[in-house]
Amino acid sequence: MSDSTPIANTGKTWIGQPVDRVDGALKVTGQAVYAYEHKADDPVAYGYILGAGIARGRISAIDTAQAEAMPGVLRVMTHKNAPAQPAFGPAVTPAVREVFTRPRPFLSTDRVRYYDEPVALVVAETFEAARGAAGLIAIEYEDERGAYDLSRHLADAYAPQRTNAGFQTDSLIGDFEAAFADSDVKVDTIYTTPYEHHNPMEPHATLAAWSGDEVTIYTSAQTLANFQAGIANTLQIPPDKVHLVSRFIGGGFGSKLIVHADTILAALAARELQRPVKIALTRQQMFANAGHRAKMIQSVRLSADRGGKLTGIAHEVCSATSRFEEFCEQTAVFARSLYAAPNRITRHRLVGLDTNRGEWMRSPGEAPGMLAFESAMDELADQIGIDPIELRIRNEPEVDPERNVPFSTRNLVACMQEGARRFGWEQRQAKPGTVREGRKLIGLGMAAAIRPNYLGASAARIGIDGNGQVKVQLDMTDIGTGTYTILAQIAATSLGLPLSAIDVQLGDSHFPRTAGSGGSWGAASAGSAVHNACEALKQEIAKVAKEVPGSPFYGSNLDRTEFRNGEIRIGDRSENLANLINRVAPQGLDAQGAVEAAGENYRNYSQHAYGAHFVEIEVDLDTAEIRIRRMLSVIGAGRILNPKTARSQIIGGMVWGIGAALMEESVLDPRYGHFVNHDLAEYHVPVNADVPDLDVVFLEEPDNNANVFGSKGIGELGVCGAGAAVANAIFNATGVRVREFPITLDKVL
Ligand code: MOS
Repeated sequence: MSDSTPIANTGKTWIGQPVDRVDGALKVTGQAVYAYEHKADDPVAYGYILGAGIARGRISAIDTAQAEAMPGVLRVMTHKNAPAQPAFGPAVTPAVREVFTRPRPFLSTDRVRYYDEPVALVVAETFEAARGAAGLIAIEYEDERGAYDLSRHLADAYAPQRTNAGFQTDSLIGDFEAAFADSDVKVDTIYTTPYEHHNPMEPHATLAAWSGDEVTIYTSAQTLANFQAGIANTLQIPPDKVHLVSRFIGGGFGSKLIVHADTILAALAARELQRPVKIALTRQQMFANAGHRAKMIQSVRLSADRGGKLTGIAHEVCSATSRFEEFCEQTAVFARSLYAAPNRITRHRLVGLDTNRGEWMRSPGEAPGMLAFESAMDELADQIGIDPIELRIRNEPEVDPERNVPFSTRNLVACMQEGARRFGWEQRQAKPGTVREGRKLIGLGMAAAIRPNYLGASAARIGIDGNGQVKVQLDMTDIGTGTYTILAQIAATSLGLPLSAIDVQLGDSHFPRTAGSGGSWGAASAGSAVHNACEALKQEIAKVAKEVPGSPFYGSNLDRTEFRNGEIRIGDRSENLANLINRVAPQGLDAQGAVEAAGENYRNYSQHAYGAHFVEIEVDLDTAEIRIRRMLSVIGAGRILNPKTARSQIIGGMVWGIGAALMEESVLDPRYGHFVNHDLAEYHVPVNADVPDLDVVFLEEPDNNANVFGSKGIGELGVCGAGAAVANAIFNATGVRVREFPITLDKVL
């Protein structure tokens, strides 16, 4: 990995520079090795998972004889012969964290809990032989009547114990119902958001290879510690016998936070066969077996005075989940912090269905929640006849409206104003349907963005060798976000070295533990650990420099030490760092660093990143075809570590917003409980032709309560509210308010 931009290290910081990805060349030349591409010492066997053809019931008979007789087949595993695993356990884990670490057994009972749940594994000499033989397994089911349709089972809705990340399910401040009843300005709306699937480009895939009682697992994981615990608890072996390698990851988006069937079954089969086993989910299988965002019905009620000051906010969400494991997305939690109002309700309810549960999907909570809520704010602005930005400014809170603590930094208003200026918002006509170009209706829309900022416990180790080359190791992952690059920038900055001197090594469970990639906390958490490891290493170097005879600094009692331009300077004397290490510690020096999970600063402040999205749209008068013309997001996320990778994150989020607003929908068959459109031909995501001119502007303001860099998470912020800005532009263009996402043209006509 080498310098990729011609920035001389003049002692100025690498942090904040638009550095190209240090792993970019490896990726575009095919040298980055992904899970399924790894090789093993012994010949690899290939597994193929067979999924259930029903959604609820039990397997009454399963005949594997024909499959077993096929050439090349090594093993057929079903619930009848699979190794013993612990029971799945209760639908809700006692501790929040256990959702990541609990046992996740497969092929362990005759019960079928969701459509396409694994019911058999065939392992063969080739993938084709395994897949072919799987088609010869004969299964008889006792099919039970299941519940699949959220809207038909609303009467069964229940209050969960907690929402994702441990948030309370309900909040209740003042008397919303009274305020709402008294108000003559009110919005009372129901929005629905559909099932959605993440579909990272790299499907879930694992190579498992045992050596004695230790298994090495090459897989595609966002958070190695979770995987290690989940695998160990399922296989009933000590965690230190599970070695995970996940160096390159072709996207995660939350679908790779916990172990899925490919990993567990590869490990079980490899142990039985005493041979390395590879298993990948097919794209079709990912629609049932790799998590999804659940369908939701959201009620948003707003009351305000004639001047646009909110008197009440109620955001109530009912979401689908599974019967066997609960997942409650924190869909209304952001509404507790976004706008001021004296009377407030947020509420989460669930309906348990015979499907797989929802899992974390990029911007859990805000993605579906802001789609509804920020659309409802636009409805209120239209009703009062006030500019949507002005409405939001009038309801800007001074402190967090529900926690009653100060905001650490919050520049939502600045983002909206700067965006309005740059986008030409003053050209917007308040009255919908009034701007036409030929047969196109033109509209402008905006929405706010908010996303909590986190810091997770993380550690790193660092070493400098006798040539001045630095190795940084931690079990952090790079899911495509630019982690390798940012961590190299942080280490180079701290040590005053060129990027080419830094070798960042990630994705190995033998390295110090981090919080991994998730929740937009990766850069801050892993970055802080690396920073602290560098600071410790500098202490170590300075100490040796003064204590080892033969060092130019030998005997110095000066404290002032600087590391810059590849040199160490103590007092007036400076020395090339590599030369010094070579002389005083030719065997190299090591250090460790760590950061604790966010503590007091986090409790005492309301800490979020903010943004404002702007969209110009055209809608065809005859066909209602919707085309985005341009889009701008102005982002307030503290200090930006690398504007180039940050911009990519935000643009990716904006594209997710476009997809959620206009296209993405997994259709669950209400009769049989399976996702009908389970491939990328029928599950529509925005392609290049759907995504026009996207622009991102960062308003930087270091948040000193966040972390040592003053940065905030940005991986998910771009999604938050982006889809609502699209929906609001469609309303401005047409006067049609669609409350059932996605907004396909048939709903606009
Ligand atoms: Mo994210 S949905 O926590 O990967």
